[in-house]
Amino acid sequence: MDKKERYNELLVSLESLTKCESNMIANMANIAAAIKEEFGFFWVGFYIVDEALSSLDIEQQQLVLGPFQGPIACSRIGYSLGVCGSAWMRQKTIIVPNVDLFPGHISCNSQSRSEIVVPMHKGGIVYAVLDIDHNELNTFDDIDAEYLHKIVELIK
Ligand code: SME
Repeated sequence: MDKKERYNELLVSLESLTKCESNMIANMANIAAAIKEEFGFFWVGFYIVDEALSSLDIEQQQLVLGPFQGPIACSRIGYSLGVCGSAWMRQKTIIVPNVDLFPGHISCNSQSRSEIVVPMHKGGIVYAVLDIDHNELNTFDDIDAEYLHKIVELIK
């Protein structure tokens, strides 16, 4: 199966898994597990905009670690910092073929070599990001971006 076919199958199973569950954390946990299981990426997880800091200026707000699969990771990432904070600020998916060439990349694990971060929107506002790291260079492309966007849309 090629990558599109694998994502299509994954999407079908995640649709049925998430449609009966409204809890965001439960759905994030299963989605992280399913993506890791299917593709064997090094780290798959979510960072969630910390509601407790929502009264602060946006520059002082932070993402806090959510459900993930893989080695332990940084608990908090500031707005605009690293790939995750940049995707939050730009409100756009960021594909990083080589993390060493991304200015400000936050290295939670030295084995991470490439990365994709997909921001998740509710009412036009970013409320979380999906972050996937792999231990090889040049892992992610527009197909990953397209399907990961469809997958995170299952969480509402
Ligand atoms: N590398 C990320 C930090 C999160 S870890 O990779 C899990 C970043 O630069 O935002």
